[in-house]
Amino acid sequence: MAPRSAMSCFGLLVIMLAMVSLPIDASQAVNQELSDLFNELWKLDTNRMKPGTDYTISLQGKAGYVSQGNNNARDHASSPLFSSVDENKLKRITTYSRFMKLLDNYERSTGVAEHVTADEVTENNLFLDAVMGTEVMKRVHKYLVSKGFSRSDLRTFKSQLYTIWFRLYHRDRNAGEDSCGFEHVFVGETKFGTEIAGFHNWVQFYLQEKSRNVDYKGYKARDLDMPDTDDHILNLQFSWHGLVKPVSSSFVGASPEFEIALYTTIFLLNTHRSTTVVVNIDQCQLELVVVRHGRSIGTAYPKLLSTAHLVAQLQVRLPLHPLSKVLLSGKTVHATGDTFQRFALAEAEVECVLQIQTFYVALYVGGDMSKARSSWDKRASQERVLTRVTRHSASQARQKEKIQPQDFGPDSHESQQKKLSDSSFPLVQDLSLMSVSGQAASLSWKVSGSEGSSGPNHGGPSSSVTKPTESSPGGSTVKHSPQSGLASVSRLVKLGRCKNVVVVAGAGISTASGIPDFRTPGTGLYANLAKYDIPYPEAVFNIDYFSNDPRPFFSLAKELYPGTHRPNYIHYFIQMLHHKGLLLRMYTQNIDGLEKMCGIPDDKLVEAHGSFATASCHLCYTPFCAQEAKSAIMSDMVPVCTFCEATVKPDIVFFGEDLPEKYFLHSKDFPKADLLIVMGTSLQIEPFASLVNTVRSTVPRLLLNRNAVGPFQKVPLKRGDYMELGDLVDTVRRFAEMLGWHSEIQDLMASRENGTVHTSSFPAISLPSGNDPGRGTTQTKTTGLGRRGASEPSGRLPPKSRPGARGPSSNSSEKSESETDSKSTVSAVSSSPST
Ligand code: OAD
Repeated sequence: MAPRSAMSCFGLLVIMLAMVSLPIDASQAVNQELSDLFNELWKLDTNRMKPGTDYTISLQGKAGYVSQGNNNARDHASSPLFSSVDENKLKRITTYSRFMKLLDNYERSTGVAEHVTADEVTENNLFLDAVMGTEVMKRVHKYLVSKGFSRSDLRTFKSQLYTIWFRLYHRDRNAGEDSCGFEHVFVGETKFGTEIAGFHNWVQFYLQEKSRNVDYKGYKARDLDMPDTDDHILNLQFSWHGLVKPVSSSFVGASPEFEIALYTTIFLLNTHRSTTVVVNIDQCQLELVVVRHGRSIGTAYPKLLSTAHLVAQLQVRLPLHPLSKVLLSGKTVHATGDTFQRFALAEAEVECVLQIQTFYVALYVGGDMSKARSSWDKRASQERVLTRVTRHSASQARQKEKIQPQDFGPDSHESQQKKLSDSSFPLVQDLSLMSVSGQAASLSWKVSGSEGSSGPNHGGPSSSVTKPTESSPGGSTVKHSPQSGLASVSRLVKLGRCKNVVVVAGAGISTASGIPDFRTPGTGLYANLAKYDIPYPEAVFNIDYFSNDPRPFFSLAKELYPGTHRPNYIHYFIQMLHHKGLLLRMYTQNIDGLEKMCGIPDDKLVEAHGSFATASCHLCYTPFCAQEAKSAIMSDMVPVCTFCEATVKPDIVFFGEDLPEKYFLHSKDFPKADLLIVMGTSLQIEPFASLVNTVRSTVPRLLLNRNAVGPFQKVPLKRGDYMELGDLVDTVRRFAEMLGWHSEIQDLMASRENGTVHTSSFPAISLPSGNDPGRGTTQTKTTGLGRRGASEPSGRLPPKSRPGARGPSSNSSEKSESETDSKSTVSAVSSSPST
């Protein structure tokens, strides 16, 4: 019989087990090929400094939580991180000595153009020569050649490396070329003078600490995975010139060539804007993140996922039965009779321990159960070889003892332990750069499955699903549960509990205006781009792709330019929130300009993905007259910058570009919000998608969408989360009815759509029967982009709803078009793509 301690622990464990065993999406597994390659490099890295000999560090206290942009971090480390570094050795090793020469070549702040002198170019070349002379880099070169990602000729490889690491590019669109991969990753930069970007190198850390520019604040770690002074990868908090980096991860002791080799490999192997690879190197499991900026590296850093310490410390802390400890030690046990029973129970306990570990790590990492589940699911898919109790006769057992090593299956116990915990550390990195979140979001042409697959249309205490029915043509009358999320939130609004409402919106709010969204299978824009002959749908908004060939985007832009479509009931609902004094801010991803058109004022609106209202050179950011850009694009010409002759584009934010500065209002708005309404978005594009997680935990969040997305996919929903699934116009209309705003919205809409704009009052105008402004079309099957065919949604108020109709003269987006000016020139679209 098992002792009591083990049994009581078991009860608790079973509860935890139930919590973590819910199904989830599969997540990223360890990349074995790269793990093998990188372990080889690790062994070849003879220039790696030895902890305790070549350098010593003092970890001191664990750093506390500091939000991004907050520069008041409590200091948990009174001494520097580096107690000593053998600088003579650093200077003796060519790669380090040449590396150190590069560290003062850069302007710290983004927005300040870099001027690279001839001497600096020589220094860059000398550094690359030294790196390429190492065994580490030779091995990587061989690997890349074997995979077809590089040529054996060394000059070509060097020029590849130069472009990846030293080619200058723009990080801040208001300045000249102000950054490059090397600067960002190894030297560090400051962004908007308020935060540190990049800075992932230990030598630079040491040198800056020595010059008193860096102040180490403490390490960041999970309770069960405390770092050691001989660890070669650390998560740290520090300040640099007074700005705080809340969490920064770096290799420690690793040579520059090792880091260059890792990141270059991942960069060249992948074409995605952001690539994350999970690898096991030495004693650690880590994620290597590489983000591209065109043909160069935008950022690259390691994230420590787990170390061998974690399992060891967990065993110390939990009151485990001795038999469980035997199993956790990795031994295979062959038992009979009662002994078998006891071991079987112990094995169950071990299983639970492993799950608790996963759960615990996820809780620590971000309080996100889905990560725990994800982590568990990932591990569960691996072969369970850690413990094994078999029922055998004693003689069989003796026989088996001899072949014990094979019993552990393909992986050793040790390597299994390294895989046990796998969870993302939510480093707040490069929050301004737009990217598609997760692999699933990167659609291929083949994606035609139901969008519902991106999230369950589940119900639950705070959700309700309503669909138009035959008895309610067009969905005007829908089943409505008084217990729905809509009702709960309406109650809160009517009680005056929501006075700072933040709205987060996407393409789904404009489908009723006849504009297809992006990702709805069949009708979404991305399902209808085949005629543009692009490698994958999102390439049309990819800055690198545009740089090589702007024609697909320009063809699409002809369809997308605002002017043809009118705001619908949903836009006016948001305008009504403003009119009632409840709208703190609307954050939209839409580029259709309909928010402005319905009268939401500029100061209440953040067009996070830019707009067509202004235009500039995609390369040097020189402003260009938006109207001229539009005329050129409409006549199949390429607008060309007079300053650098590169292609001009409307200021739509492309993948790989920074979001507009106004977007950063979110850091003030979201903590202040008392209600968040998320409408018509798949929440797949970062950094926008993560905004919804930045309201205070007690703030109600309401999702109005056709299907569950983002954090609303959790089952059950988090307390305070509500969703109403179905057609947005129907849902919003019911919401308005519950709030008692419906007729006011109708009036407002009628007055604006008839061109009679009243800013302070909204006279009731009765609508022609059957012309209910609340009824827009839902998306219809389109041909090609289908925008022309769908451009006149039913229920739109004539005559402004016709294609080509202009918005009210007060339309600020159109006004700003003419306000922007610069010298401009155009060339025929058929000319060869500009760079
Ligand atoms: P998506 O197309 O990804 O998502 C639109 C969401 O709205 C989906 O979940 C739809 O189910 C939902 N939806 C559409 N019509 C609806 C309706 N009538 N009623 C209810 N729900 C409806 O669009 P976004 O999330 O906005 O980037 O996409 C984000 C970004 O991805 C866009 O800003 C765009 C794209 O790449 C740029 O334009 C640069």
